[in-house]
Amino acid sequence: MNLLVTGAAGFIGSRYVRMLLDSDAPDAPRITVLDKLTYAGTLDNLELGHERLEFVQGDICDAALVDKLMADADQVVHLAAESHVDRSIEGAADFVRTNVLGTQTLLDGALRHGVRTFVHVSTDEVYGSIASGSWPETHPLSPNSPYSASKASSDLLALAYHRTHGLDVRVTRCSNNYGPHQFPEKVIPLFVTNLLDGRKVPLYGEGLNVRDWLHVEDHCLGIDLVRTKGRPGEVYNIGGGTELSNKELTALLLEACGATWDMVEHVEDRKGHDLRYSVDWSKARDELGYHPRHDFATGLARTVAWYRDNRAWWEPLKRRVAEERA
Ligand SMILES: NC(=O)c1ccc[n+]([C@@H]2O[C@H](COP(=O)([O-])OP(=O)(O)OC[C@H]3O[C@@H](n4cnc5c(N)ncnc54)[C@H](O)[C@@H]3O)[C@@H](O)[C@H]2O)c1
Repeated sequence: MNLLVTGAAGFIGSRYVRMLLDSDAPDAPRITVLDKLTYAGTLDNLELGHERLEFVQGDICDAALVDKLMADADQVVHLAAESHVDRSIEGAADFVRTNVLGTQTLLDGALRHGVRTFVHVSTDEVYGSIASGSWPETHPLSPNSPYSASKASSDLLALAYHRTHGLDVRVTRCSNNYGPHQFPEKVIPLFVTNLLDGRKVPLYGEGLNVRDWLHVEDHCLGIDLVRTKGRPGEVYNIGGGTELSNKELTALLLEACGATWDMVEHVEDRKGHDLRYSVDWSKARDELGYHPRHDFATGLARTVAWYRDNRAWWEPLKRRVAEERA
């Protein structure tokens, strides 16, 4: 079985591919990774020499390349995206191009070549913001940032290819991920790497925004359950991590890095900052047997240790971002 995974030089996709390559199951797939290697993707995230892995550098908007790869693909797991909300506020063009047009290019290719299953990795951010309670999959989408709006567009487009053309599309909507190999612009690796360098961390507003933090390996388990056991045309929320305000998260990160509150700089809140996300993931639990395995305290401690031990991975990435900003 040939599996095409897009965006797997990034954080979640690379963890997902490593999980599949580590499996010695007789039906473990051969994997082709398609990744453009934007600022967020690095080959250091992939086991390039593995006999079941092929890497292709390219753009998901390149219809000719996508067509060629789809001809050999039995299944697709689509993770490639522009993924950082702050960047989408600075400029939305790359988000619309990659997240919307890129997804449409992949769906067209999958349809043309009769791909068996297409898993579209969406996000809980498509629902908007919720003060209390949790969203079921049937809740209307109400995204607020250019990032989440572009993800909602691609999510709906993917479902439309199922309803219109009968393509076996399955959509996942997951909460915030943490773990090793996350690009050091996202809040956990940004704060940890700043603190390891003795630098201050920027906390948005009063730090009251609440997120559900899920270990990346639990997200990857959920994605694979959807690929192997999910139903065509269905959406599955993936969550069940630990709900924390940004202030509570900051306190834990300060403690883990042996720092105090004087290392926190309060900065102007993000424009249109969603207050709280929370998905109801009972459908994935009841239908697929999904259950998160990682306990947050242990997962966070291991993640901080990973950044402490892997400066060679993140220092060049941070340098590149600093040069880009300059
Ligand atoms: N990080 C989270 O907490 C989270 C939560 C829920 C859903 N998601 C979704 O999961 C997916 C992966 O997220 P991530 O955090 O690993 O992102 P990431 O930014 O770490 O990785 C994205 C990858 O996509 C590649 N890419 C970008 N544009 C491309 C293009 N035009 N063609 C080919 N490749 C391209 C990049 O090079 C990079 O390797 C995204 O679709 C994101 O919306 C993320």
